[in-house]
Parts: sequence; C-alpha cells; structure tokens
Amino acid sequence: MFSANTYQSRRNRLKKDLKSGLALFLGNNDVGMNYAGNTYHFRQDSNFLYFFGIDKPGLAAVVDIDNDREIIFGDDLTVEDVVWMGAMPALKSLAAEVGVSEKLPFKRLINFVKKARRAGQTIHFLPPYRHDNMLLLKDMMNIVPKKQKASASAAFIRAVVAQRAHKSAEEIAEMERAVDISGAMHIAAMQRAREGQVEAELAGMVEGMAVSTGGNLSYPVILSVNGQILHNHYHGNILKRGQMVLGDFGAETAMHYAGDITRTFPVGRKFTPKQKDIYQIVLDAEVNAIKSLRPGVTYKEVHLNAARQMAEGLKALGLMQGNLDDAVAQGAHALFFPHGLGHMIGLDVHDMEDLGEQYVGYSDSVQRSSQFGTAYLRLGRALEPGFVLTVEPGLYFIPQLIDQWRRKKMFPEFINYKKVAQYRHFGGVRIEDNVLITDNGHRILGKPIPKTVEEVEGLRS
Ligand code: GLY
Ligand code: MN
Ligand code: MN
Repeated sequence: MFSANTYQSRRNRLKKDLKSGLALFLGNNDVGMNYAGNTYHFRQDSNFLYFFGIDKPGLAAVVDIDNDREIIFGDDLTVEDVVWMGAMPALKSLAAEVGVSEKLPFKRLINFVKKARRAGQTIHFLPPYRHDNMLLLKDMMNIVPKKQKASASAAFIRAVVAQRAHKSAEEIAEMERAVDISGAMHIAAMQRAREGQVEAELAGMVEGMAVSTGGNLSYPVILSVNGQILHNHYHGNILKRGQMVLGDFGAETAMHYAGDITRTFPVGRKFTPKQKDIYQIVLDAEVNAIKSLRPGVTYKEVHLNAARQMAEGLKALGLMQGNLDDAVAQGAHALFFPHGLGHMIGLDVHDMEDLGEQYVGYSDSVQRSSQFGTAYLRLGRALEPGFVLTVEPGLYFIPQLIDQWRRKKMFPEFINYKKVAQYRHFGGVRIEDNVLITDNGHRILGKPIPKTVEEVEGLRS
C-alpha cells in the first residue's frame, strides 16, 4: 500500500473533478473455480485499488461528494472465518491506513445507495465486468446487467482516466520493479529453453518466478513456437530446432502494477538467416518507434510509421511491393502486422480497458480506425508526460489469413503472394518493451532486457 496521503489526495482530486453526486466503487470478490469454496486467485479491482488501496475481497466504497463522506462497506472476519483463514486486521484499521474513517457493514450498501437515489443524488458507477457486481448493481440501481455498461457515468470514467493515465513517481518505481521481474523471467526462458522441451515447462517456470516474488502474472503466459497466434495460451508443442519461441509474459508486483514484455528467440543457438531478416525488421521498428516517443506526438502516427517502416523491410525481402504509402494507407501491411503498436499499462496490463478504450486511448481529435489491423490499436491519442505504454511491433505469417487474402485477391499490387508462400510456416516475431513518457522525451522502464540478435544469441549459447 502507498501512504494514506496518496489515496486521500486521489479521492480529493476525484471530488474536485466530479463536483457532485455519489461515486460508487465495487471491489472484487472471490469467485469459485469448480465449486464455490475452491476459488480462482483473488485479484482486486484496479479502480478500487487506486482510490482505496485495500487488497481484500468483499468490499465496496462510496465517495459521497454532496454530503462530504467517504465510506468503506465490508465485514470483519468471524471467529469461524479466522479458524479457517487466520486473523486479519480489523477493517476499521485497514480503512484508516487509506485515510477513510467511516466503515459500515456490507449489508448496508444497497439501502444506502437506494436512499441516495431517492434523495435525488446522482449515482456515478463504472462499467462492471464481474457478474456478481452486475447483480449487486441491479439491486441498487434497478438497471438490468446488459444495460449497465451503457448506463455507467461518463463523467466518472473521464475523471478516473484523467488520474490513472498519469503515473506518479511512486507508481513508476513500482512499474520498474514489475519490468525487472518480467525481464528476469524472459532472461531465464531464453537461457533455459532446450530442443525437445514442451512449451509448458518454460511457461510454468516463468509463472513460478512471477509468483515467487510475492506478485503474480499480469496476464496468462503467451509462449509458443506458433508465434503467429497472437494470444496463444496452448503450451503443448515440443520445441524443435529451426523454430523460434515467442514469449509474451510479465509479472505484476505485489501492489499489482504490471509488466508486459515480449521476446522472440531461436530454439537452436542461432537464428536462421531468414529468421534474422524478419527479426531485424521488427527490432528496428521497435527501436525507432521508441526513439520517436515524446509528449505531443500521437501514438497513431507512431503506429503508422512503424507499419510503414516494416513494410519497407518486407519490400526489401520481396514480400511487399509497390507504393508503400498507399499500401499502409489502405491497410495492406496488416497481413503481416495485424495488431496495434501498443497500449497504456499500469495497474492493468491493458490499463483501464474495463472503462472503455475510447476514453483511455482516443480523444475528440484522434478517433479509432475501423480498418483491419489499425482497428486493434488500443492507444491512438497524443502522448503526455507520465503516460506508460507498451511498444510491441510484430510480423507474422498466419496461414489462414494469407489464404483468405489471396482467395479474395486482396492487394495484389502490394503483396507478393508467391514470395509469401515461402514463409508459410515461419511463425511470428514480436518484441515488446514498456516505456514512460517524460517531460521532453521517454525512458524505457527497467534494466535493459537483451534484444539485439547478438544479445539473444549470446543467451542461447
Ligand atoms: N500481453 C498482451 C499484449 O501484449 O498486449
Ligand atoms: Mn505483451
Ligand atoms: Mn502488450
């Protein structure tokens, strides 16, 4: 936890921005995996963590701006609970640690909110994503779950995004820790991977490293010789010489700040010449994109510049052809680069995605594209000091997508399908780092994680 002062000043700023009404925060609960008592790993809601800091299930909170009250709703453990789970500090003292003096039993929440509604107060709530909280909201607000997202408070969302998008010094220190743990996981994977291993051995090892630091994974491990499957969670393939492993995984610290790192390395000691060519195109695009980061540039232009640069590399290899400005404008590069260059990161790996990407990643002047590929860009707007984002270009050869595009005769003027056929079983390369936008430029978070061809091959020898 940060100091009480941190949470207090976040809530004070929220009150100033929202001006009136009652802001409702629903914490997360334990969820049964295969029966109620056998639960998934508990993860507190990130908005609750940001404003109220308490990392326990069974809580909600309100910031009643109209009546100048801040209340945490929750229950202390019974002796029977303590028998099974051990003692926990009294909720009253946990609340005091985050600067909140009022605490009420959880069962008082529904009537508290209903009474506020009857008194004519505006109830601000955020888009819910957990079903138990949707049911609770239905009881309090009388809005059916499928209408709750659309009924969430835009003013509340904007006020939360305005704060969470700019990371403070103490948050940045925590994020550096997350990246350093994630980096150690990647270095271990690059050092330990052996021909004949099952992917699951490496995936399990890096997950264990994240857990052993007192934190956890920040998202399920993506690790595969099928790097072209963007979010591949199947870990049953055997590593074979001549293949590459794409590992996209990271840790969240005990305070839940995320790292999100990707590295791609050969199963053998060295990249093949063909692999090295593609790898170098991706690496150059990543390094140049990072170099261009500073306040004021839009991430959409950084994304399109990276797409354009990779298209040039693909043209040099004979995979693309023609006028590349036109090719990128029309989206032809997306056959090889079908995702966005990156996203905000913080307490969530895709930071604040629950609040809606149009609020987090776009603005009135930068709208989301509807074109295949660029449509997946989660962050397009102008960068500001304090933003932390990922830079993660990649190039992939996805057989089903290639077949579909060829069948539909997509962009024959820009794509050399004959040449592409020679890369059909290539897989994919992605390289990802986490970067802070500073007052006049940027800084890559954490200790450098090997990524040049020489550095990666050095770890493989
Ligand atoms: N780890 C998922 C992503 O890179 O966005
Ligand atoms: Mn990633
Ligand atoms: Mn990412």
